[in-house]
Amino acid sequence: MSVKDLSELRQNYGKGSLQVHDVSADPLDQFLKWLDHALQAQVTEPYAMTLATADGNGRPHARTVLLRGADANGFYFYSNYDSQKGQDLAANPYAELLFFWPALEQQVRIHGSVERISEQESTAYYHKRPRDSQIAAHVSTPQSGIIESRELLEQRFADLNHQLEHTTNIEKPVFWGGYCLKPNSYEFWQGRPNRLHDRLKYIPDSLSDTGWRIERLMP
Ligand SMILES: Cc1cc2nc3c(=O)[nH]c(=O)nc-3n(C[C@H](O)[C@H](O)[C@H](O)COP(=O)(O)O)c2cc1C
Repeated sequence: MSVKDLSELRQNYGKGSLQVHDVSADPLDQFLKWLDHALQAQVTEPYAMTLATADGNGRPHARTVLLRGADANGFYFYSNYDSQKGQDLAANPYAELLFFWPALEQQVRIHGSVERISEQESTAYYHKRPRDSQIAAHVSTPQSGIIESRELLEQRFADLNHQLEHTTNIEKPVFWGGYCLKPNSYEFWQGRPNRLHDRLKYIPDSLSDTGWRIERLMP
């Protein structure tokens, strides 16, 4: 096998199916059902999702982040506002979230617009994080900036940890906080035999009671 030819690695999918009459009329409901199933099945990193953004010149960037909440307003994640994703979202507030749960042969894509959550909400979440993570957020900035060495990073952490030894309530850095992606479409993908996968897309529809209609997509 050469790295240019990986065609021997073929997977045939057959763990489930997805029919319009089986899914919830509301896409958030359907997502929460699948997430719950992923948790029951103990998939690795069920909350890990790819966040795809594009910068002001339309160049894409993708990375993994953790889902930290979902409700009728959208999907929440936390990061450094000065990171690449932060700069991308400031220039172009549209993004896509992607979950892939290989053990279940399922993928979910959620497209939408992204806004920062309020400072109060970010602060409340920041204080729920372990103390070490709170300190790490302070020293690891600008996220994705170049740092000379691992030693320097650890030294910064140790210095701040020492400095805050008697501080019980560490202040949230201004450059750190949450985002909420408000969905404007969802796609649920279930692997099926012979590459005839099931794909159902939820599209906003003002004529429908739920505000959404469901379309089947070609695999
Ligand atoms: C499993 C996993 C979970 C991660 N969760 C987060 C997260 O919740 N927030 C975050 O900012 N980065 C998270 N990261 C790191 C990002 O993937 C990325 O390296 C970092 O955010 C910088 O990306 P950017 O420069 O494109 O903004 C996670 C990485 C992995 C592999």
